Amino acid sequence: MKRSNVLYGADYNPDQWPEEVWDEDVRLMREAGVNIVSLGIFAWSRIQPAEHVWDFAWLDTVIDKLHAGGISVNLATATASPPPWVSATYPETLPVDESGASYWPGSRQHFAPSSPTYRRLAGELVRRLAERYVKHPAVVMWHVGNEFGCHLWMDFSDAARDAYRVWLAKRYGTIDALNAAWGTSFWSQTYGAFHEIFPPRLAPYSHNPSSMLDWRRFTSDMLLECYLAERKILLDAGATQPITTNFMGPFKPADYRRWAPHMDVIADDCYPDPANPHRIRDAAFQRDLIRSLKPGVPWMLWEQATDAVNWRPGNPGKRPGALMAETAQSIARGADGIMFFQWRQSRAGSEKFHSAMLPHAGTSTRTWDAVTELGARLAALGDLPAPGRDAQVALVFDWENWWAVEERDHPTEIDYLALTLEWYGAFHERGIQVDIIAPEDAGAGYDLVIAPVLYLLREEGASAIARFVEDGGTLVTGPFTDIVDEHDQFRSGGFLTLLGDVVGLRYEDFGALAGESTGGSGVGALSADAAQAARAAAARGTVSFSFEGETHAGRLVAETVHTAGATVLGTFETGLQAGSPAITQHRFGAGEAWYAATQPSGDAIGAIVDAVVAASGARSVVADLPAGVEVARRGDLVTLINHGDAPVEVAIDGTDAETGAAVAQVSLESQGVAFVLAPVESAVRSAPLVDAATF
Ligand code: GLA
Repeated sequence: MKRSNVLYGADYNPDQWPEEVWDEDVRLMREAGVNIVSLGIFAWSRIQPAEHVWDFAWLDTVIDKLHAGGISVNLATATASPPPWVSATYPETLPVDESGASYWPGSRQHFAPSSPTYRRLAGELVRRLAERYVKHPAVVMWHVGNEFGCHLWMDFSDAARDAYRVWLAKRYGTIDALNAAWGTSFWSQTYGAFHEIFPPRLAPYSHNPSSMLDWRRFTSDMLLECYLAERKILLDAGATQPITTNFMGPFKPADYRRWAPHMDVIADDCYPDPANPHRIRDAAFQRDLIRSLKPGVPWMLWEQATDAVNWRPGNPGKRPGALMAETAQSIARGADGIMFFQWRQSRAGSEKFHSAMLPHAGTSTRTWDAVTELGARLAALGDLPAPGRDAQVALVFDWENWWAVEERDHPTEIDYLALTLEWYGAFHERGIQVDIIAPEDAGAGYDLVIAPVLYLLREEGASAIARFVEDGGTLVTGPFTDIVDEHDQFRSGGFLTLLGDVVGLRYEDFGALAGESTGGSGVGALSADAAQAARAAAARGTVSFSFEGETHAGRLVAETVHTAGATVLGTFETGLQAGSPAITQHRFGAGEAWYAATQPSGDAIGAIVDAVVAASGARSVVADLPAGVEVARRGDLVTLINHGDAPVEVAIDGTDAETGAAVAQVSLESQGVAFVLAPVESAVRSAPLVDAATF
């Protein structure tokens, strides 16, 4: 069959199988169109069965067989699951939970990221692998660790304690600076020296929130340090191949924006849950987030499932066609590599019920048919355009804000990712392309920036947002925005201290909509009936507000804000804030800023999005997109995916990217996919991630 320019393959774990199977593996990989495998991710105990015993012979054989078969290797550093001898000889490598209990071996990822001993042993393994294989022609990429932080992201061990103190001393310089940043005069927490600080281990009540924010930064940085240490060893050994590790989309424990500059290619693992009604939206967001981490550089999907997974409470398979539809979503949103966990289904261990490219039931299976058909379709695509600046809309999503806004002891509990996805969904269903950015990246190139619930706002982020509006952009923000600084402290002068002039508002109160606060200040101004109604609505957690002649529901908060130049477009109709502004708009410089003083319900988000899209230059990738059809543009490649149940037709002028035929309209069955070349002026051809000549 034709060899694909798209990288196509899977995790390959030949160490789980006898040597007799390896030749069949290579033969079937070729049949499926596989051109790359991620090799030996969990093979540490096979490579180093005892501290001073090394066995590379089997790996030499496997790599040579793959190479002879034209299959490239993404070679793993194999450090994600230390062998039993490591845990037995060096118990200080084991992680510890917040109560001081150890995590024990018997699963995987049982290492303390800060442990110098773990890093030394892992480093030795990586050095030997690198020295042996760095020049092997089959090795085209390096797979460092595996899903850093996946099962265990917070370690409270003594190794973490020591590293945390060093990290804090480096960040703050003096203990006085730390005390100021953490506001430790509260509850008698003032520290006299860095050695008095512990990780936030089990405590009677909530830890200092500013310290929790630093603890989150630290734990993300410790995982990153593990990656960087291995990367350095590879580079020192002369590695010239791309080096990276696999991300997990919007994974809260690791601030991937800080990681991205150190990845030569961004790689991601994505397992949409067939039972999640929003799985298409959520996966699209994940892929847009991943693409946006390295603008202009294609990314790789390193893991998805061919069918069912094994780790949810119930594990249904994918509906027919869904594998192609989900894969097309990745291609559409910037991926140049499509890979699976895993090549051959395991016959033992925790993941034996997890699907694979080659099912345990063999090749006379629906899964094998889907896998080979997918390989053939990807091969037909040839070169793909680079994912460029196709989006006119940017959605702000920020890890530090995520960590801070979900800390304890707030007016109301907020699920930041869920709220972000609600806003994203409105653009997704309208076929409007969106980049996912940090506040600091608001600016040139975008017409519209959506920044929901930007509770923690850094000064640089606020400046970029203000400049963006001043220069003519349209901003939508709120509620619970511009509340704290980077230390999770209120700024002097109240709230909206950085963006108040931009949104034209003065902020008075949070107005949480649930729990005890419903009986709080302000009720006295209402009649007994109104107060009772307000309490009832607040207890239900919703409030009504008007916008464009309709009544909509708001959730979480109904803030008290006062206009300071803004125009009121919507007003609270119920609740303690009845009569006060709910949705506002303000001209600032050449642009405009909208503010939502509550979390709008889905239909209200839709109405706001329609209004701001109409006012800005943002447009759908294709006009008149049928419901259930997803569209995305990647340079001159437009991908259409019918996630609905009924066949649809979509008008689009271009060339079918698989067949080269001219099209004016495409017909899509349920789960059908069309790749159409419909050029835009700025389309740039993608440089191959890995030289296709190696296949
Ligand atoms: C993760 C891991 C893989 C495997 C899959 C199963 O993505 O990286 O090793 O466990 O989950 O879905």
